[in-house]
Amino acid sequence: MLLAATVMAVTVVSCGGAPVSPAAPTSAAARATPVPAAESSVPASGDTWATSSWEDRHDTMEFVVHPNMARLFQQHYRKPAPDMTCRTCHGADAEAVQYKMPHGLSALDPAHLPDGSGNDARARTAKFMIEEVTPKMIDLLEVAPYDPKTKRGFGCFNCHPVSR
Ligand code: HEC
Ligand code: HEC
Repeated sequence: MLLAATVMAVTVVSCGGAPVSPAAPTSAAARATPVPAAESSVPASGDTWATSSWEDRHDTMEFVVHPNMARLFQQHYRKPAPDMTCRTCHGADAEAVQYKMPHGLSALDPAHLPDGSGNDARARTAKFMIEEVTPKMIDLLEVAPYDPKTKRGFGCFNCHPVSR
């Protein structure tokens, strides 16, 4: 499964033109991608994403994450056209904080995470988050899903701040 995800993500990434490919060391070397010496944020674990430079992450966001997620949100909210921007996830002052995440979205309480049950608007959004948004991001970034046992991996709190 991991292998399949790897192959898929590499395909997706190369379609988007972002030159992040662990299977092609020559192209990586040719681009002389600098190894991030000191990342300010703790990235979700995942070989390619975790070791990508800020610039490569920016490319992955622009060419892979943004178009795919914009389509997913457009379909879910039945909009005539995609209206998601970088700021939908990153907040109004995304550039000022160098796109560090989580930042800007509503804070969630880890002790009372909405589980998607119920029929009000918030529950329906939570269901969309659990069943579609989070798995889609995991696919697109090629990272491991959040594991409560190890407390590592990609989940709600890679996008949403923790409320206190
Ligand atoms: C669907 C939500 C979403 C959208 C839309 C989105 N991003 Fe992101 N972005 C994220 C998340 C989540 C992370 C952090 C992933 C992690 O935990 O490592 C991130 C990380 C980044 C990073 C790396 C930041 C760092 O500190 O290493 C950059 C740069 C970035 N995004 C730029 C953009 C740009 C530019 C756009 C618009 C073209 C965009 N993002 C659109 C969710 C989003
Ligand atoms: C890839 C980024 C991303 C991830 C991962 C994510 N969300 Fe969201 N979430 C968003 C965005 C963007 C919105 C705003 C949606 C809108 O504009 O309607 C949102 C909105 C919400 C809302 C409605 C706002 C509120 O606070 O009432 C809830 C509830 C929510 N998310 C729950 C979750 C839960 C639970 C998870 C984990 C299973 C999760 N989200 C994972 C991006 C994300």
